[in-house]
Amino acid sequence: MDFRELLKVRRSIREFEAKDISLPLIQEIIADGCEAPNGGNRQPWVFIVITNNDMMKRLSDESKKNILQEIDRNPTSTLALYKPILQDPGFNVFYNAPCLIYIALQVPVMFTQPLWTAHLLRAT
Ligand SMILES: Cc1cc2nc3c(=O)[nH]c(=O)nc-3n(C[C@H](O)[C@H](O)[C@H](O)COP(=O)(O)O)c2cc1C
Repeated sequence: MDFRELLKVRRSIREFEAKDISLPLIQEIIADGCEAPNGGNRQPWVFIVITNNDMMKRLSDESKKNILQEIDRNPTSTLALYKPILQDPGFNVFYNAPCLIYIALQVPVMFTQPLWTAHLLRAT
């Protein structure tokens, strides 16, 4: 499949089979993602892979709780659109996906490396 065709056929998935995903496949997906361009080529990302269903449910429930609190604090927020679905106890924000990958940033790397400092100095 060429790249243009891939752009046309890709879509968001919101229904998943209850099938385990092998760790090597997860690693392959992450390795492909690591080909993405990034600032200063520092590659400051950290991946947290979660495959435990109870943990994913907990994270979904906590996310829903946090977003609902945010809507209560700021009722005119566009997030309010999602209030009914977030109040549904059966709704899982990850659509019951079998695996969750959090991408985190190593903040100290971002702000302590010399190249970054050099750019800041030149800008002043
Ligand atoms: C930054 C970003 C955040 C998104 N957040 C959600 C989300 O929280 N839940 C969800 O179901 N889809 C989310 N989406 C998917 C979009 O709704 C989706 O890409 C859009 O509706 C177009 O549909 P498609 O991806 O099938 O072409 C997000 C997409 C982006 C780029």
